[in-house]
Amino acid sequence: MIQNSKEACVFNALETAATEIKKRHLMTLFSEQPNRAYTYSLEVDSFYLDYSKQAIDDNAFKALINFAQYQKLEAKRDAMFQGDKINHTEDRSVLHTALRNTSQINSKFPDIAQEIESTKIKMLSFVDSVISHQHLGHTGKAITDVISIGIGGSFFGPKMLQSALIKNASNKIKVHYLANIDGDQIANVLERLNPETCLVIVASKSWTTAETQLNAQSVLKWFQDTLPQKQAIQKHWVALTAKPEQAQEFGIAEPMIFPMWDFVGGRYSVWSTIGLPLALSIGSKAFTQVLEGAASIDQHFLEAPLDKNMPVIMALLGYWQQAYFDLNNLMVLPYSHSLKSLPAYLQQLDMESNGKAVNSQGDNITNSGPILWGAEGTNCQHSFMQLFHQGKQSGMIDFILPAKGHDKYPEQHKLMVANCLAQAQALLQGKTLTQATNELLASGMNQESADSLAKHKTMPGNTSSNMLIIDEITPHSMGALLALYEHKVFCQGILFDVNSFDQWGVELGKSLGKNLLNSMNTGNIDNLDPSTAKLLEFININN
Ligand code: F6P
Repeated sequence: MIQNSKEACVFNALETAATEIKKRHLMTLFSEQPNRAYTYSLEVDSFYLDYSKQAIDDNAFKALINFAQYQKLEAKRDAMFQGDKINHTEDRSVLHTALRNTSQINSKFPDIAQEIESTKIKMLSFVDSVISHQHLGHTGKAITDVISIGIGGSFFGPKMLQSALIKNASNKIKVHYLANIDGDQIANVLERLNPETCLVIVASKSWTTAETQLNAQSVLKWFQDTLPQKQAIQKHWVALTAKPEQAQEFGIAEPMIFPMWDFVGGRYSVWSTIGLPLALSIGSKAFTQVLEGAASIDQHFLEAPLDKNMPVIMALLGYWQQAYFDLNNLMVLPYSHSLKSLPAYLQQLDMESNGKAVNSQGDNITNSGPILWGAEGTNCQHSFMQLFHQGKQSGMIDFILPAKGHDKYPEQHKLMVANCLAQAQALLQGKTLTQATNELLASGMNQESADSLAKHKTMPGNTSSNMLIIDEITPHSMGALLALYEHKVFCQGILFDVNSFDQWGVELGKSLGKNLLNSMNTGNIDNLDPSTAKLLEFININN
């Protein structure tokens, strides 16, 4: 509900601009403004963002910037970087940016800054000692494999960056991730490994996550079948957690416990000790470059004016399409096989952050974070892109394209670039009935057949998309990419006025899961709803 005249002014400007824009096809916007590609594009650090294929003009863009100012975006940004307790429902600061660079908190929170720096040094020197074989296993063998047990934010970040930076991976250490509670996957991983040459990492901020605790117990049994000695755990097991006492109770030695902190959200934690498996794969130097890339985007976010601020612009465009064009899903299409895990990483980042139903006051809201999905290009073209070209559903689209490919395969890369740009063109231009008919006639088809087939070949186009070019996939640019999306999500949280840093909605499923497990163990299904009771009966898991 509109509260005051200023607010009315802001939203009326947005409404008016949207009404005007909807009257015109995107192609018309290009003919009206041929230099749009210069007006609506931005180059920052490793990125070139082209948003000229978005349904905006100068009025709309101005109205959006006014809206960001009305939502006090800059003040809320500064409050986060300075450590104010902006995660008000958990009474916590949000300081994942300080993991990249502590300069914003050095004066206000010198102890935290000191602890962040000393922990980073401890972690990276441990990485160097394992890779250089200074740190050996209990039987004196070098560590060749790492089993990283963790889920959600304690898994997606390291896994995604490790596959993105496969070129940087040392061939000395192989990292195997165990996230889900899937016996087949666990068996498949363990049967190929030898505990004497394995480092086992238990990554869990809360140390309460059921999947991680159960998997850790199963791997511990496998480990102790070969190395039962108490000292062996001390050489091979590592904990990454905000609950060091519980990790010690588990049996992990104090020097092998690397702290995580409450002021770092799980889905914002790859920069912390949660990044250890990644650092063991790519080395401490490359891990530091990942942090530097993110810190460089933090600086841009902090300093650039709103209308030249890449995460702010991406957030406003997303808000605009959701609020005024009813697009409730965001498709992220990385045109790179090594970025194939990016959509899964962004799903947790965006949907666990902004998938909320009440605003900062606890009042119900009509709009919040989008459904995020995606897959690698060009595979997506031979799968779901048909629907986006001719279907009745649509969504927001981020194309992500590295400008540089693999030196040995220049033809593959040229074709990748051509296809990625062509998809955005086809979504923009579409194909009219006349164009389809003329093509068929030009192919020698008779008028009647051409008229009937052309109807099936027309494509509306007029579908907006962002094109984000990354100069090259490097540790720096990957750190920058994740920080860019972190800040975009943060800005959208401000535009929707939600708390992007809690996730209360995950708790009910966890507690019901516990009850159900108990029912399965005791056989008592009295308190279950009939559907769940019948399902358990059918599964009959205890026999
Ligand atoms: O259930 C959701 C969640 O709490 C995520 O926010 C978090 O990243 C994940 O579970 C894992 O949590 P932890 O690191 O505490 O095991």
